[in-house]
Amino acid sequence: MSRFPDGFLWGVATSAFQIEGSLGADGREPSIWDTFAGPSGDTGAVACDHYRLWRDDVDLIASLGVNAYRFSIAWPRMRDPRGVAHYDALIDALLERGIEPLVTLYHWDLPATLDWRERTTVDAFEDYAQRCFAAYGDRVRRWVTINEPWVHGVLGYLKGEHAPGLRDPRGAVAAMHHLLLAHGRAAAALDAGESGIAFSLFPVWPASDDEADRDAARICDGYHNRWFLDPVVKGSYPDDMLTLWEERIGPLDFVRDGDLGVIRAGDFVGVNYYSRGTVRASAANEPFPYEVISARELDVPLTGGGYEIAPSALTDLLLRLRSDYGDVPIYITENGAVYHEAPADSSRVEFVRQHAAAVRAAMQAGVDVRGYFHWSLMDNFEWALGYEPRFGLVHVDYETQRRTIKDSGRFYGDLARRNGLL
Ligand code: FCB
Repeated sequence: MSRFPDGFLWGVATSAFQIEGSLGADGREPSIWDTFAGPSGDTGAVACDHYRLWRDDVDLIASLGVNAYRFSIAWPRMRDPRGVAHYDALIDALLERGIEPLVTLYHWDLPATLDWRERTTVDAFEDYAQRCFAAYGDRVRRWVTINEPWVHGVLGYLKGEHAPGLRDPRGAVAAMHHLLLAHGRAAAALDAGESGIAFSLFPVWPASDDEADRDAARICDGYHNRWFLDPVVKGSYPDDMLTLWEERIGPLDFVRDGDLGVIRAGDFVGVNYYSRGTVRASAANEPFPYEVISARELDVPLTGGGYEIAPSALTDLLLRLRSDYGDVPIYITENGAVYHEAPADSSRVEFVRQHAAAVRAAMQAGVDVRGYFHWSLMDNFEWALGYEPRFGLVHVDYETQRRTIKDSGRFYGDLARRNGLL
């Protein structure tokens, strides 16, 4: 058996807007997602009804056998004492069952009065983060400040596919800068415990050895990965991408003196890993001239969602993080896949096994990985795609809100209890 170190966290992950529902309950204010529906027309109005069923869900998490749970606090609930009390009770219930909370402060449900293009939103976030630390910091030891600034900035402010539904390239880059600054301000405000930011990291390979394709892969890597890792770990934006963004949107004058010193912050990096990309040069594409080739065009194994299953790219990514960014502690804050079969989901069992082995391989080569959080505890509201993609270790019947543990949930729980791969 390949054992993981004692104390390794085996968790399941969710986010508030994707599971809670009850959008008008207990003084919650509106968020940018409340009225935003993608092509599916689905909204988060009910989702998994978790705001009401949370006690059962905590029992469900405990019954799986995991020792950690990543969830997010809904910022729009924190202006009302009843919302504050909700997460207070949730945290206590987790700790009573021996489940370590990993709490995300921001997973995209921005209060509707705010806008990340504005620097004042960073001040509002810092104030909100301080309120969370004051309320829960006596029990929560690990915090994720911001979830996936690339996805939130690009899909929300540049491509209009996520709330707030804007197509504003300059605004998107400002929003991403402000998200990084918000991370830095929150990390500095935390005086006990650890903080980190969760990035959607996307390893990329050139489609061929041609110089144009290799250049396309470098730019794609800069756009998704280096633009975030470099400032948070090294305190600077990468020069090649600074030039490219400035050519595209003009001077980045929203980056002020001293910001990068603030952004270089945190105790760990959170890695959200789903798949890798094969990239070729393509003149027509926005904002940069390359194209990520659809995995369906390649001769590769696919998830039920059509993404390449690429566990070895996770090992390579973790090794690359160490070689390019040093010995920073890492949590895999998300990893998972869409599969529709339930409850006998042998494909997801295999996905979990392969990715846990990929993490182990990187650890054996010296990478300091402290935990793995599977996305997701249960099927939930997958943003613009609605309820159709199912990512859960637990099946949710949205008519009855009945939860059924899938084979993958049992497999994952066994892996967590054993703390090792057979
Ligand atoms: C990530 C998000 C998470 C979920 C998964 C499938 O990009 O952080 O909320 O939607 O993808």
